[in-house]
Amino acid sequence: MFLKINKLKSKKNRSKIVCLTAYSKNIAEEIDKYTDLILVGDSLGSVLYNYKTTRKVTLNMMIEHSKSVRLGISKSLMIVDMPYNTYRTKSEAHKNCKKVMKETKCDGVKLEGGKKIKNIIEHLVKNKIPVLGHLGILPQSVRGKFKSKGKSLREKNQIMRDAIILENAGVFAIVLECVESGLSKAITKQIKIPTIGIGSSNNCDGQILVTDDILGLTNSKIKFVKKFVDVKKLITEGAKKFNVEVKSKKYPSKKYSY
Ligand code: KIV
Repeated sequence: MFLKINKLKSKKNRSKIVCLTAYSKNIAEEIDKYTDLILVGDSLGSVLYNYKTTRKVTLNMMIEHSKSVRLGISKSLMIVDMPYNTYRTKSEAHKNCKKVMKETKCDGVKLEGGKKIKNIIEHLVKNKIPVLGHLGILPQSVRGKFKSKGKSLREKNQIMRDAIILENAGVFAIVLECVESGLSKAITKQIKIPTIGIGSSNNCDGQILVTDDILGLTNSKIKFVKKFVDVKKLITEGAKKFNVEVKSKKYPSKKYSY
């Protein structure tokens, strides 16, 4: 676990770090060859369950999806998002993160926030639980529309300060979500651990996106989302062909029957 984390950290200034989300074994298995890190993100709340916010995602949901993802990963680092209200105090965070680590056999957890959760992160790291930080837009705290972060001087200073606090608290890398490109460049230069951008420009040490978005399974209109392939089309095509063959009795032919 720590070997894999050190390998990821050593990529800073050497090669870009490739990260994607997965919520199930079948997807994890296919992306693992091309990723350094796979995140079981609490974005599964909106992507799979149509929740308006990630706040409804429970610890049990994260654990069950993560167990499935674990079955599909052989080389990437596996990180699990800690859902809302599961890390409010040191003891709550420790108890829940330990449970996640034990039941899912993941390599670490991700927590959203800066200065406010400094003590909690320090406590987890001291107890050998690797933590991935998350700054910029914090989906568990956002109400209403997502806006980019770091445009005003006050916000810039605060996010930079938080990045330094997280590094000192012991996180192994930081996700920067929708952080203005000049600021993500400055943070990436300032800290010694990798920055993983999502909507935060190619100035970061790596990139993460939601796999369902890059596959075209969602109808996301978010500026930073790029649809790399159209899996929806393939699914429709497969279902349509099955429908036609069942109705015409072409399927199942003798070859597919006992
Ligand atoms: O929940 C999630 O998927 C995330 C992202 C960084 C993609 O937090």
